[in-house]
Amino acid sequence: MKAGFFQFDVTFGKKKENFEKIRGAVSGEAPDLLVLPEFFATGYQFTSQDEVAGLSEPVPQGETTEFLAGLSQNKGIYIVAGLPERDGDVFYNSAILTGPEGVVGVYRKTHLFFEETLFFTPGNSGFKVWDTAIGRIGIMVCFDWLFPEAARSLALRGAEVIAHPSNLVLPYCPRSMPVRCLENRVYAITANRTGREQRGDKPPLTFIGQSQITSPQGEILVRAGVDGELLGTADIDLSRAQDKKLNDYNDLLKDRRPALYTT
Ligand code: ACM
Repeated sequence: MKAGFFQFDVTFGKKKENFEKIRGAVSGEAPDLLVLPEFFATGYQFTSQDEVAGLSEPVPQGETTEFLAGLSQNKGIYIVAGLPERDGDVFYNSAILTGPEGVVGVYRKTHLFFEETLFFTPGNSGFKVWDTAIGRIGIMVCFDWLFPEAARSLALRGAEVIAHPSNLVLPYCPRSMPVRCLENRVYAITANRTGREQRGDKPPLTFIGQSQITSPQGEILVRAGVDGELLGTADIDLSRAQDKKLNDYNDLLKDRRPALYTT
């Protein structure tokens, strides 16, 4: 199947403008699985809880879910994309999975980064894997990558590909994902954004781009630049993520010794 990400510079607060960017990016041939950045339609640097409340949406009732589900249906593709989710008066940094059949599921980010902790509640969904028509898709969001337990939990639950919506500002993730993929023998699609946000009196945030698709052998199949828009795609073979045997004697998941690990 064809995996893809769309990297672009999100315009803060302009959902419709950001939706149109995505629609334009996939107006031709679209990948079977498209991953979009964290908070792809709203922007990232919130300055108040009121602003978060104004831009967050319930799932599945909100306009962002409706846009993604509609695009999935029109193009016959699966999409994973990040959005601020409102559940009553609680707010999550979430990512949803949509497909030709509609909304498939939602993941709420487990490990909040930096000032996200001011406005959002740590996710309570746990790490989820969905068995879809194109493969077993797990989701983690941005900073989750720095906790090896996130990718490991997804692999243990059967993920063949990890969709990874991101708004990365630290430099380490692109060179670390090969290890996450190698140690779990999974594919990963990291969809980051580009550009800079400086809102209110906050220090600016510069997003590092470099979205990438990484193979179970730790190869970088495609990587975007630090700047610039790119629909990056790669043909991936999920059977390469199913067999965890390294040789006749070793199996990546079966050889684990959980009784000796500290949790
Ligand atoms: C991040 O988790 N947005 C760095």
